[in-house]
This record gives sequence, C-alpha cells and structure tokens, in this order.
Amino acid sequence: MSEKKPGRNDRCYCGSGKKYKQCHLEADRAGNPSTVSAGQVSESSGLPTLGRSRRRDPLSLSPVERESMRKACKFNAQLMDHMREFVVPGVTTEELDRRADQYTRDHGHTPACLGYLGYPKTICTSVNEVVCHGIPSDKQVLRDGDIINVDLTTIVDGWYGDQSETFMIGEVSDKTRDLVQVTFDCLFLGIRAITPGGSVNDIGRAIEREAHRHKFSVVKEYQGHGIGRKFHQDPSVLHYPHPRHEDIRLQPGYCFTVEPMINEGTWQTALDRKDGWTVRTADGMRSAQFEHTVLVTETGIEILTLTENGPQEGDRF
Ligand code: MF3
Ligand code: CO
Ligand code: CO
Repeated sequence: MSEKKPGRNDRCYCGSGKKYKQCHLEADRAGNPSTVSAGQVSESSGLPTLGRSRRRDPLSLSPVERESMRKACKFNAQLMDHMREFVVPGVTTEELDRRADQYTRDHGHTPACLGYLGYPKTICTSVNEVVCHGIPSDKQVLRDGDIINVDLTTIVDGWYGDQSETFMIGEVSDKTRDLVQVTFDCLFLGIRAITPGGSVNDIGRAIEREAHRHKFSVVKEYQGHGIGRKFHQDPSVLHYPHPRHEDIRLQPGYCFTVEPMINEGTWQTALDRKDGWTVRTADGMRSAQFEHTVLVTETGIEILTLTENGPQEGDRF
C-alpha cells in the first residue's frame, strides 16, 4: 500500500518493461485521491457522489481524440473476444487474469486495473454474489451453475477502453439465467435511451424500469463513469434516475461507460473488509453486470466496445 512510487524514468511497477511515465504514471495521478475533490467520481467504479456535488464539466472529445478512443476500445473488445473461450468450468480466475495480462502485453498495451489505487490484478472477476471488483485467485475454480462477470480495461496509447460481460458456466438455474438476461437487456435499454443533449437520467430511468419489472434491484453505490485519458472521470452515470443529475446533459463528444449491476435481492452491497476491493450483495444473493464504453456524437451514439463473437444486442440467453 505505502510503497514508494517509481521515478518518471524508472521502470513501471506493473512489469510492462516501459518507463513509469509512459505507463501507469497518468493513471496513478488520475486516481490519486489527493488530486480528486469530493463529489467527483473518485475511484473504482465511481464511489457514491450524492450529497457532495462539486462537478467539473465532462470533456468533449475532438474528432482526433474520438479516433483514439475508438482504437483503445476496439482493442479491449478484441481482448474480450480472445478471453471468451477460456471462461469454462474448471478454470481458475487466476488463469483468466494471466491470459488477459499476457494478451494485452503481447499486443504492446497496458493493463489498466493493475496497480490502479493499489488493485492487485489485471482484470476483475466477480462470481455469483460478487457485484464487482472480485480479485482473481488461483484458489477460485469456476463450477457448473456459477455466473462470472469478467471486467476488462486496457490502456492503448494513453486512452482507456472498459467493458465487461457476465458468463454462465455450464447449466445455470432459470432464475440465474433470467437475471443475466435482464441485466444484458438493461445495458442496451440504457444505451439506447441516450440522445445527444439528453439527460443522463434517461439511462437510469430505462435501466431501473426494466430491472423492477422483473422484480430485480439496481445497485446504487457503483456506477458508470466518464472515460478517456483517465479511467474514471465525469460524468457519473447512475443506473437509476436521481433528481440532482437531471440537468447533466450528454453532449456530443462525451465518452462514458454504462455498466448496470442488477441484483436478485437487495440493491445494498457490502465491501470486503479484508481485501478492501471485493463488493458483494448485502444479502448474499446473486448479481450480474454488463458494461460497454459509449461515445455520444452529433447525431446519436457509438458503442465503442462491441465484440465480434460475443452476445449481440437483442440476443436471448
Ligand atoms: N473496470 C471497472 C469499471 O468498470 C473498474 C475496476 S477498478 C479496479 O469501472 F481497480 F478494480 F480494477
Ligand atoms: Co467502468
Ligand atoms: Co469495467
């Protein structure tokens, strides 16, 4: 935790072999709580920001910057396509982490999570009742009937791509399949509710309606986030509507994630006090999540992290 930071020209601690300034320096600065004021999205999937509202205007990306984001997200999607075949019964979450890390480095890119605010691994693997930020482990083996969210984030030429999918391992119960389906539908309903100049609350309204229609709940303590040259920045993208967010307008050039976490039971969560990362449902029931990075344009939106061999919009599981 309290390790000394490397110098700008030292090798980065993440093992990339690159100089610190060309690797995790920017990410560490972005995530350093001392440079983040209360009320901004401050860490992980965005800590709750309600009650303190010192917001900065989100960045509007230029055409050149948009192209950089497209490229970063395209690689991240390719990584997801690469990972899919390994998410099977008997695999450990550690092995998934190792494969994602290897593929990222083989392509000359940088894992974004590793070392971010001290996070110890390259990916997040959240199994069953884990809502988000599950830490891969060689002791955790995937079994028939489990669900796992694999959350991947890569830095490509200084730009971040972020996405996740929930996988069903072998045969799962009807209730679990329903949870995964509804969560997947929530992601696309949220994304399709976005209009240039529209309120950010349009996203949360669409997601909450679908989740509640199926008697599931929406996690409130973690949220989508602006993304670009930083992992987490404004705007905060709640997955439910909030009066104080009604006037946040999604302008052309904004880039952010939509990443609903939907629970079978209570929306409330509990943070693991030992590892400081793993977020579980407060009642131990299951949770699912899907995530894409989205760009608002003058005329609509682009989903930047679409994959080729993964689930497609409208699919039935
Ligand atoms: N990828 C997650 C998100 O969607 C954040 C993970 S932060 C980490 O925002 F430090 F846990 F990796
Ligand atoms: Co995210
Ligand atoms: Co993510």
